[in-house]
Amino acid sequence: MEQKVDIQICLGSSCFSRGNKRLVKVIEQYLNENNLRHLVHFHGAHCFSSCDKGPLMSIDGKEYEQLNEDKVLYILNSIFGDASPNI
Ligand code: FES
Repeated sequence: MEQKVDIQICLGSSCFSRGNKRLVKVIEQYLNENNLRHLVHFHGAHCFSSCDKGPLMSIDGKEYEQLNEDKVLYILNSIFGDASPNI
């Protein structure tokens, strides 16, 4: 089995209040619906010190900025294979 994909979502107060509170649920739902939980280590993180670019998450060390629900789903689809163009 290859190494798990490491997804960290910033749960610092700025990102949390600007959308990550909800994006945690969006990501969890995506992982559950697509049966990806065993492939992913998904966890919250402290402030990334880039609050002005938030809300933020990182996947295998790469940071993604100014997230919203569509952007998160697009990123997850591009990583996990189903890059459906209809979002
Ligand atoms: S709270 Fe997310 S970068 Fe600071």
